[in-house]
This record gives sequence, C-alpha cells and structure tokens, in this order.
Amino acid sequence: MSRCRVLVTRYVYPAALELLRRHTEVDYRDSRDGLARDALTEALRSCAAVVCQLTDRIDADLLDAAPELRLIANVAVGYDNIDVGAATARGIVVTNTPGVLTESTADLAFALLLAVGRRVGEAERWLRAGNWRQWEIDLLCGREVHGATLGILGMGRIGQAVARRARGFAMEVLYHSRRQLPESTERELGARFVTRAELFAAADFVSLHLPLDATTRGSIGAAELRQMKSTACLINTARGGLVDDGALLAALREGTLAGAGLDVFPAEPEVDPGYLELENVVLLPHIGSASVATRTRMCLLAAESVVAWVRGEVVPRQVGVEG
Ligand code: GLV
Repeated sequence: MSRCRVLVTRYVYPAALELLRRHTEVDYRDSRDGLARDALTEALRSCAAVVCQLTDRIDADLLDAAPELRLIANVAVGYDNIDVGAATARGIVVTNTPGVLTESTADLAFALLLAVGRRVGEAERWLRAGNWRQWEIDLLCGREVHGATLGILGMGRIGQAVARRARGFAMEVLYHSRRQLPESTERELGARFVTRAELFAAADFVSLHLPLDATTRGSIGAAELRQMKSTACLINTARGGLVDDGALLAALREGTLAGAGLDVFPAEPEVDPGYLELENVVLLPHIGSASVATRTRMCLLAAESVVAWVRGEVVPRQVGVEG
C-alpha cells in the first residue's frame, strides 16, 4: 500500500521527523531557509499533507496548485500565515500547536516586561561599551515592576499564564478579552475584567496576547497608544501585525509612551530601523516559545496531527472549526 506523502517545509526537531517517517513518506526539506514560493508550490503539488511553519505563507493560489493536499499542520499556535477559510473551502484540515508553548511564551513576555521596565538591555549595552565608572544613586533607574498595574489584552491560555506570573510580582492585573472569564478563574488569577479603554488608561504595562486576524490587525494604533500613560510600556509577544509600527515609533520617540518590548514584527525578519535607534525598546527575534523542550513538543504535536489523520482518527487541534 502506498504511504501518504508529507512535505516538511524546513528543519524540524528529529523526534517529529522520526514519528512522521514511521507512518508516512516524508519529503523533508532540511533547510534553515525554508522554501521559496515557487519551490513550495512545486513541492506541494504531490503532497497530501504538509508540516509547515509560520514563515510559510499558504494562501488560496498555493492551495489551488496543490490538488492532493488534505492537511496543513502548522508548527505554531498562531496561524495567520495560512488562509484557513480558503483551506476549509477546499476540504483541507488545518491544525496548530496550542498548549505546549503557553508557559515558555508567558516566560518570555515577562522577560520582556522586566527588561523594559528595569532597562536591562540598555544597561547591558552601556556596560559592554565600557561606560561603567562607579556606582551612582540614579544610574539607569527604571520602573518598578512589583506592585505595578498590568493590562493583558487577550486572555487565552498565554494571557492567563502571564497573569499567573504577575501575581508573584504583586501586580494588579486587569484584562480585556472577547469573552470574560468565569468568576472562579478570575479569582484564581487575581485578574479583573475591564473595557479596552480602561485597560489602556490604567496599565503601567500592556501585554498583547491576541491572535492576528482581520479584526485585530493594526488594532493597537495611535488612538490606543494615546490612551496609555506616558510612563507605560507595551509588550508584544503575539504578532507584529497587531501594532501600527509607525504610531508606536512616534509615541516612543515623542515620549508619550515610556518603552516597548517586542518579540514580533509585522514583516519579519525586517525590523523598522527606527527601533534600533531607541534605547527604550527591547527587541527580540521572535523567540517567544524558543526553548528546546517547547519547540520539540511543537514539532511533535504537528507530527501527531498528521499521524492521527493518516490513521483515519479524528484530527486533534483543528482550527477554523467551531467546538
Ligand atoms: C509562534 O509565534 C506561534 O504562534 O507559535
């Protein structure tokens, strides 16, 4: 019996590959650079499933050139790189990797929050540049994190994990989300539901945990940034497209916003050069979930979705379907 052909578009951790190879015929593109558009189109032509990453843009045109394709397993929790509507319309199942990256992404959001608040990046650059002459009472003083007010926009798994960390820092946690959490969960997290406007106005740190879609793209713009305190900082470990870069840069330059910690950018790996000139931003290359254990689990989860599908089981972690 011929085995199902699965394209793996770029390097994945070996455990996932081993699992896939036990059950499928794998077309593995073991490259760090991923496949260019033409090569991806060509490779997809004869594959029934694809294990892809957030750098692979899978749109309707590409799907039209992939008549055999039935499953797209994205190695990420976000799936804005895939036109899920177009896939669903063609009977193609799309899966993601939720859950396994919650804690490491929340860790990184907190790392950014601490780094921006306490000027960690700036202080380290300053030391490395050989500037340190003596201890000084007002040297590189930053903002207090403990006891500050944290506004969490998007209270899904990762937002909630950030809230749990904030409790350890005695922060007041406000949140806004499409759905208010059950009261028992709010109590457990010590988090209070507020309107978006209240959140922007009250928070010392605003951390974004929203998916990127047509309703959220550019939703943090000049108007929202203006509502924030001039002493506040914005943390983004979700997707760069949520924020209007021009408006954020203007706010940071003009001092109407104190700082930003950014792990994600609208057109990665491009980073607006304006950010590089600012001391009050911490910039990271999209490493929210980047621990070996988490990234391995993400690769495995994507492979497991493929295997479930090959076996004719209900495919777990489908996106774009209700329930
Ligand atoms: C990473 O950004 C992810 O969506 O998993």
